[in-house]
Amino acid sequence: MIKKIVFATNNLNKIKEIQAITPSNIEWISLAEAAIFEELPETRETIEANSLQKGERAFELADLPCMSEDTGLEVEALHNEPGVRSARYAGDLSTSEENIDKLLGALHEIKNRKARFKTVISFCTKERIIQFEGILNGEIAQDRRGSNGFGYDSVFIPEGQMKTFAEMNLEEKNQMSHRKRAFVKFLSYLKLNQHDSSK
Ligand code: IMP
Repeated sequence: MIKKIVFATNNLNKIKEIQAITPSNIEWISLAEAAIFEELPETRETIEANSLQKGERAFELADLPCMSEDTGLEVEALHNEPGVRSARYAGDLSTSEENIDKLLGALHEIKNRKARFKTVISFCTKERIIQFEGILNGEIAQDRRGSNGFGYDSVFIPEGQMKTFAEMNLEEKNQMSHRKRAFVKFLSYLKLNQHDSSK
């Protein structure tokens, strides 16, 4: 029997990414497919709390098991900024290019370029709420490199790699990404707790 889980996003690339590594008895549906058209709140102060806030609201609306995720870029020399404010670093309506300009400016002449991407998944069902974290360490490049991907990809070099995420193809990035790491932990939990994916 196919079991449905709502992925609290309308980003079809994220849904494809997780569907590709999920057993075929689980079907992911987007917010729109679950007939949820309101913008989910993301007003909390941490990545963990924002992820949970979205998941809980989606679960209230969908009445199906829901999975949400929130991601941020934490830069050591900036006291883990932009973190939960990664999408709005340069201002509420800022573009990724503006966010990157601000980040490169803040790191100007700073030697410590260490950074990490953190994804937190929240899985909300009638029985329980559970969270899974995926972390990818790396560093911030001196300048933008590459044209693939989105967000901060052109300035993030994963640990042990020479290329930025934006110089990799999607498959290369997805093999090592923070989101993939969190997905893998979540999927192994689901395999051990099959009953959790039925409401
Ligand atoms: P969200 O939680 O996916 O909305 O991500 C928050 C912000 O982090 C986005 O605005 C992106 O700029 C950034 N971000 C999330 N995931 C990635 C990624 O895989 N690469 C680069 N930037 C990302």
